[in-house]
Amino acid sequence: MCGIIGYAGKRNALPVLMEGLSRLEYRGYDSAGIAYVDGNHNHPIHIIKEKGKLIELRRALSLVHATPHIGIGHTRWATHGEPSRRNAHPHLSQDDNFAVVHNGIIENYQEIKSYLKRKGYTFRSETDTEVLVHLVQDEFRGDVLTAFRNAIQRLEGFFAFVLISRHSPNELFFFKRSNPLVVGVGKKENFVASDVPAILPYTKRVVYLGDDEVGCLNEDSFKIVRLKKPTPVQKRIETVPWNLEQAEKGGYHHFMLKEIYEQPRVAEETIRKRLDFNRQRIVFDTLSFHANWRLKHVRKIFMVSCGTAYHAGIAARYMFENIARVPTEVCVSSEFRYSDPILSKSDIVVLVTQSGETADTLAALREARKKGAYTLAIVNVVGSTIAREADCVIYTHAGPEIGVASTKAYTVQLLTLALLALHAGYLRNKIPPKQFEEMLSFAKHIPSDLKKILQEAPRVDQCAKKLYKKHNFIYLARGFSFPNALEGALKLKEISYAHAHGYAAGEMKHGPIALIDKEQPVICIIPQSKTYDKMLSNMEEIKAREGIIVAVATKGDRAVSKFARWTFYVPKTSEFFSTIYTVVPLQLFAYRMAVLNGRDVDQPRNLAKSVTVE
Ligand code: M6R
Repeated sequence: MCGIIGYAGKRNALPVLMEGLSRLEYRGYDSAGIAYVDGNHNHPIHIIKEKGKLIELRRALSLVHATPHIGIGHTRWATHGEPSRRNAHPHLSQDDNFAVVHNGIIENYQEIKSYLKRKGYTFRSETDTEVLVHLVQDEFRGDVLTAFRNAIQRLEGFFAFVLISRHSPNELFFFKRSNPLVVGVGKKENFVASDVPAILPYTKRVVYLGDDEVGCLNEDSFKIVRLKKPTPVQKRIETVPWNLEQAEKGGYHHFMLKEIYEQPRVAEETIRKRLDFNRQRIVFDTLSFHANWRLKHVRKIFMVSCGTAYHAGIAARYMFENIARVPTEVCVSSEFRYSDPILSKSDIVVLVTQSGETADTLAALREARKKGAYTLAIVNVVGSTIAREADCVIYTHAGPEIGVASTKAYTVQLLTLALLALHAGYLRNKIPPKQFEEMLSFAKHIPSDLKKILQEAPRVDQCAKKLYKKHNFIYLARGFSFPNALEGALKLKEISYAHAHGYAAGEMKHGPIALIDKEQPVICIIPQSKTYDKMLSNMEEIKAREGIIVAVATKGDRAVSKFARWTFYVPKTSEFFSTIYTVVPLQLFAYRMAVLNGRDVDQPRNLAKSVTVE
């Protein structure tokens, strides 16, 4: 997720843009830049951009003596193309008359790029963004807003843009679809930004843009129209009730909660990016012909990762063995090298990591490469070390995750791995076409189902209020849900500091059952599945020993409520995708437990977001 700020007004735009960008710093980024229209004769557009922290951009700007009154700024979180100065925004059109900043993904950019190349346009970056700015130039017939609207109508995907032009040097142009954008209304000055904090020092009066709304503003006024119909849209000016810190968290109390609530949106973006419903295909654009060939003929897969990402690896084992029929082994990265793994050229080692910098996972990657295996990284942070060193990379595009406890990164890892397993099953001819279609239609419902699961929050709160003083929790599950027994326990441990242990429920009678008494809370994850009856028997055994059962079950399941004191419901889905569903109430539960215990949710003690030492 990148950050956008735009300004038109009486002040010097450069410090305003820099201040705005620094207010977006908390989200993390890899490069930043600004563009402004020079007030001089002919109104040239100037661009200053740098890779790395804002300090680099600030240093470059200190050499600029202009005092422009209009400009745009951007912090980039790379999606297409490595983090670099060349790929940093803003991007200029070929004739230097337009500059644009962009959040989101242009899905059909390759097709448009080829079209523009045929027309003689040359590209200066590897980004998808650049196609928009050339398209605007291509569409320009005298009116910038019309050219902007026409260009956007040729794009597929979800994005927000802000554009400046030499042809209309006092105006900013903006568009929003599925990526946030607000107009800030000031006195003799107006703003546009992806996030409220960027404009809060100047105004609390904002207009929230709706999807497919496009508009322009100058220092005196703003105008908003629909993309397809240029009739003005009447918008209400609202007053932001938050202070800066609240605004950074989008009004949530913690980043973790914000990120939990972002899950439907990031899942939707993943589905839109990876599923082509017209052709009934799964699309992994970064998998080369060679990578697909490897996947088709793979002998064995090793899933290697740490912490939450390790749990995604366990889930992937169930997925790959079930649907693609590939033998799959799961290892924690820190043990991988020391087990002296037996690897061959026909094996694929899949490294799963949010940060792409985890030292143990990086060491495992290097070991795998040394032993001749093919390496495939599933990474969230574009351009990270693991993404660069692996033979092949698939990005999860969950956006920056700031809370130390991983939530949305995990759900997108699960979803991406599920789709990859389906893709492998398809390549290996292991899935009958009808089943494949059925799975795609289940996948389609994931984003809206995740929204429904979040509505369980009040029930989770009630339960947490009764249990937050407990210090020991057991999490039990079987099959596809098993990784979430581990993940639910890890989430609780790391942010509430209560001890929690996840077990495969079949293991209960081999030891943990000794712990069950009337004081012991046991979280049972029991969606509809092949192992449902066995899991129900486990619950019966716990109930017989007066354990306190909390269940995560499928909506409409009445049998479970006979045993459970609280039940959190998830919609019915295929067992294959159920891991993505059942983790969400567990995240909410851990979050509430931590809050009730007064813990520092986003920065729990002793932990770091990225573990770069072995
Ligand atoms: O960046 P990575 O996904 O490689 O990080 C792996 C673990 O350090 C990480 O998942 C950690 O366990 C989280 N704090 C869990 O919430």
